[in-house]
Amino acid sequence: MLPKLTTEIPGRKSRDLARRLKAHESRNVTYLSDDFPVFWERAEGANVWDVDGNCFLDLTSAFGVATAGFACDYKRQTFAWQGALLEHGMGDVHPSALKVELCERLSQVTFERWGVGAGKAILGNSGFEAVEAALKTSWLATGKRRVLAFEGAYHGLGFGSLTANGWEFFKAPFRPMLADFADFVSYPRTAGDLAKLEPLITKILSRGETGVILVEPVLGRGGEVVPPDGFLQLLRRLADQHDSLLAFDEIYTGFFRTGKWFACDHEKVVPDLICLGKALSGAYPVSACVGKAGVMDAWPESAGEALHTSTFLGNPVGCALALASIEFWSQANRERELAKLEELWQQALSPLASLPEVVQVRGRGLLWGVEFKMPGIAGTLMTKGLQRGLVLLGAGQDGQVLSLAPTVALTPEEIAFAGAEIEKLIRAVRST
Ligand SMILES: Cc1ncc(COP(=O)(O)O)c(C=O)c1O
Repeated sequence: MLPKLTTEIPGRKSRDLARRLKAHESRNVTYLSDDFPVFWERAEGANVWDVDGNCFLDLTSAFGVATAGFACDYKRQTFAWQGALLEHGMGDVHPSALKVELCERLSQVTFERWGVGAGKAILGNSGFEAVEAALKTSWLATGKRRVLAFEGAYHGLGFGSLTANGWEFFKAPFRPMLADFADFVSYPRTAGDLAKLEPLITKILSRGETGVILVEPVLGRGGEVVPPDGFLQLLRRLADQHDSLLAFDEIYTGFFRTGKWFACDHEKVVPDLICLGKALSGAYPVSACVGKAGVMDAWPESAGEALHTSTFLGNPVGCALALASIEFWSQANRERELAKLEELWQQALSPLASLPEVVQVRGRGLLWGVEFKMPGIAGTLMTKGLQRGLVLLGAGQDGQVLSLAPTVALTPEEIAFAGAEIEKLIRAVRST
């Protein structure tokens, strides 16, 4: 459904909620200004309605979570029946059968599908918890404490994942509290970058202290950068040569975001650990660190007290949603459907590349970035986009990338509309 705005944006109710929130939420959390945000009330497919009754077209899947679309059948049904049956369990003490099934299914869609035997999982809630689990696993499995990570990479904001984040913005205020265990190299954009990267990574790994290379197979919040072919293969080879593990953070890119089950499927490279979240359930805080069984068995068997767990681990509603989501993505025609959608987005966005302020339009599947010459422009586009009924997000450390992570639920007409509207939006911002 195309957007339909019936009030000024933000409307009266949104402005009132912003005023109330300002008084009682920590002031660093929600960005509040006279023209931002709108408060959501309901959503369906690719549409979101705010509390003032305005209908928006969401081009973000709400942080890349609702890839399957809002309120699709599997979500409606699962919330209804599982919510009524068992809404909470005792994850590491008396779990539900659904936790067993989810661990099995996660193994099937990752390491078993890749033909390298079974996988074992540590479930969590937020994405960053999956990264924390991967970092702890790497230490236990290798006895090497350092992590090789990438500038611009985003892995979440817990202390371990924050340390491996390639964003100074998030780390600087907490620097004295962060441990020193991460080394950073730049994320490659071209074949030339890749050639320069090999000796740098080799030098770091040669010290024998790196337990894991942690990488996003497509750089998400760092600006939707699709690396050159051969990047993941290079990392696999170097990790093997130096007895380090390879961990893919597919929290953003997993579950067909880039057109295949996982972004690493494009290069057919198998990691030792994979971190999943967001679209894993498509609607609920569920995450997982899944690893080769042999690597995960570095954890000692529980003797009654888990070393790494949390109250909501394996929550039955979350597990039921994740199982239903995996079922949804398992349907035979998904790759073809995604290829068609990729083509439509490519067509809709490619005219933007010729605008004078645009550096590059890039992407894969349902993950696209429009990079601009002007730092900070993404915030302006987000705010002004709302006035046109578009929900948008920015990316890139300098706020120079417009990030699009739409749902599968947009029709070809809506995709064409979105491309044309974004072009008008850019022209409008230019003239202000
Ligand atoms: C690649 C990647 N890793 C980790 C995270 C952190 O996930 P969460 O915000 O659920 O903790 C994100 C969030 O955007 C992400 O994009």
